[in-house]
Amino acid sequence: MSLLKKNFLPFRILAIESSCDETAAAVLEEGRILLSSVVASQIDLHQQYGGVFPEVASRQHIRVIYDVVDQALQQAHMSLANIDAIAVTRGPGLAGSLVVGMNMAKGVALGSALPLIGVNHLESHIYSAWLYPEEAPKPPPAPEFPLLALLVSGGHSELVLMSDHLTYQRLGGTLDDAAGEAFDKVARLLGLSYPGGPAIQNAAQTGNSKAYNFPQSKMEGTWNFSFSGVKTAVLRQVRDLEKSGRPLPIFDLAASFQASIVDVLFDKTMAAAREFKVKNLLVAGGVSANQSLRDVFTSQKEFPVFIPPLKYCTDNAAMVAAAGYYRFVHGKTDSLDIDVLPNWPLS
Ligand code: KG4
Ligand code: ZN
Repeated sequence: MSLLKKNFLPFRILAIESSCDETAAAVLEEGRILLSSVVASQIDLHQQYGGVFPEVASRQHIRVIYDVVDQALQQAHMSLANIDAIAVTRGPGLAGSLVVGMNMAKGVALGSALPLIGVNHLESHIYSAWLYPEEAPKPPPAPEFPLLALLVSGGHSELVLMSDHLTYQRLGGTLDDAAGEAFDKVARLLGLSYPGGPAIQNAAQTGNSKAYNFPQSKMEGTWNFSFSGVKTAVLRQVRDLEKSGRPLPIFDLAASFQASIVDVLFDKTMAAAREFKVKNLLVAGGVSANQSLRDVFTSQKEFPVFIPPLKYCTDNAAMVAAAGYYRFVHGKTDSLDIDVLPNWPLS
């Protein structure tokens, strides 16, 4: 099948995401103009388990994926005849969940004779920073290379240097918990709901971030992170406080924990940006929805910073379409026999 079945103007991608607990589809035009983005969250189903239950996740994806893709097309006022390529998350993620999105994407690609683009989920989070709020009158400037990306989600915390599109040099990452995972675990410890990030952020709003001095693992001499120490420190503090029999100062604990994580992420990212003399900073992944993290990065003036609009920080398909677009224009399409890659690294 020739990729040039028509002249691709305007070029539209239908993207599908199902790597974890969100079933999502989106239509994107010319790489940055978002025509629709539909996300069906499974949070309510997993809340009772305090985290994502993989089998429940894949079965729920099966139930809703057809409707989600259909809605994305309808909201974009498009049919498959207006689509030029299908992008889909190939990994990393939960195997059983990835397979559902992949099979849907292959079915559509085969049925409509469209090229298929398998996209890395971490790459999608990075390209979410190419998206912009729909109320913007025209596309704002795109990030410029070389750039440093801080990618912080429920499964990953990585510092990635990009010298160009799709060119990733991993400088370091977490040696234990991911930043989002630390938020989720500490929230559980404090009796807050899943997902922990938004719950901690809410609790922290009325708390004193200096009430407790939780450790910040600096991992000197490396670009790595470690968040299990701060989690254990919160656990110890909670145990000590519980002995007093008084109610836990949840707000202060949440604010102090959040400050510890945000400081480490900010300090290390800024140090790496100076060391590698990048032009731009980029912060993405579910934890980039954190207001305190957004505030520290947007208030520094050393580097222009790109952070996706709030609704594209956590998992969605608009970001898959954005990454898929750059893969397509660089000739990176895939055949219909590709498999999912649950442990696919970025570089
Ligand atoms: O990117 P994402 O939706 O899924 C993964 O690829 O992992 O990230 C989900 C993670 C969860 O750990 C969640 O607690 C965290 O992002 N998160 C936040 C906030 N919103 C979501 N962490 C801190 N503050 C938030 N406001
Ligand atoms: Zn994600």
